[in-house]
Amino acid sequence: MATTITITGAGGQIGYALLFRIAAGDMLGPDEPVRLRLLEIPQGLKAAEGAALELQDGAFSLLEHVEVTDDPAVAFDGANIALLVGARPRGPGMERGDLLAANAGIFGPQGAAIAAHAASDIRVTVVGNPANTNALIAASAAGGVPAERFTALTRLDENRARAQLALAVDAPAASVRRVPIWGNHSATQFPDISHATLDGVPLADALAERVGDVRAWQEQTFIPRVAKRGAEIIEVRGSSSVASAANATIEHTRDWVTGTDDWTSAGVVSHGEYGVPEGLICSFPVRSIDGRWEIVEGLELDDWARARVDASVAELVEERETVLALGML
Ligand code: NAD
Ligand code: LMR
Repeated sequence: MATTITITGAGGQIGYALLFRIAAGDMLGPDEPVRLRLLEIPQGLKAAEGAALELQDGAFSLLEHVEVTDDPAVAFDGANIALLVGARPRGPGMERGDLLAANAGIFGPQGAAIAAHAASDIRVTVVGNPANTNALIAASAAGGVPAERFTALTRLDENRARAQLALAVDAPAASVRRVPIWGNHSATQFPDISHATLDGVPLADALAERVGDVRAWQEQTFIPRVAKRGAEIIEVRGSSSVASAANATIEHTRDWVTGTDDWTSAGVVSHGEYGVPEGLICSFPVRSIDGRWEIVEGLELDDWARARVDASVAELVEERETVLALGML
């Protein structure tokens, strides 16, 4: 049986970067046929229909079927995986949280449609910003679907953090691991290097050799670079990240389905781990085991790290209060 994957905002930039890689097997592997459902709003249908024509022209051996629709009931019918991308991107000078008013209204109805129509093994990856709180809204509206099935993308932040560390120690990005993102996919996020490894051994000494005072480098260079990379891309490119976001979406969803051999990062529902209020969708260090994300527990957070985690979690609490006040939870 093929896997049914719903992609919302499929006529947009990230949608276009996702579709062909999924059809080529990059997300679920070379042996898993896929059926794609492309959800758009009426204004986006033509772009999605065009992408569907191009998918045909790719003659992908794994691609069984493509359907384009503006009806969430049709789009999520029998879906095993939902990539919730469709939402407005921010422009220069905005923070992602500024999108709450414009985007939050999208995710309640989609959560409800998922609950009503998706397959019982549905896995949801929320990409549209602000991703953590949009995932919270969708999960809250999806009565009967466990909150653990709703996740927010912070893999792009982790990839950025690994890439910046790799540059600092002049090593390939793939050799740097265990760089979890804590908190919100926002400027308050905390990319944590205290457990980072380089080819399986602690990276701390190699980093100190290159940058000197590691704490100062983290505060002045590394954390701002990673946490504000989305804004940097907007400034340089003129619009927000696309291919790197699609790549991270594919990696997040692939790891969720097929498992991980080390830690990674994902926005997942808190059950109170590390003192994060229950129910928030917060980024943690995670592993994927037997098709489920598990938070890596028992890590030490010193006072400096704890304060950074707390600040980002406080922002998530504030976002939750805002959407509560808007009547969206
Ligand atoms: P885009 O404007 O190119 O595409 C968005 C698409 O969504 C449009 O085609 C639009 O018609 C569609 N859409 C809007 N409302 C919809 C709805 N209710 N149902 C279905 N489709 C709908 O934007 P993009 O560059 O593809 O970015 C999409 C979102 O992803 C933005 O919110 C952006 O900020 C976010 N993003 C998140 C990350 C992350 O790491 N979490 C990274 C990059 C971008
Ligand atoms: C990103 O991190 O690139 C995205 O969330 C887009 C943005 O607004 O920064």
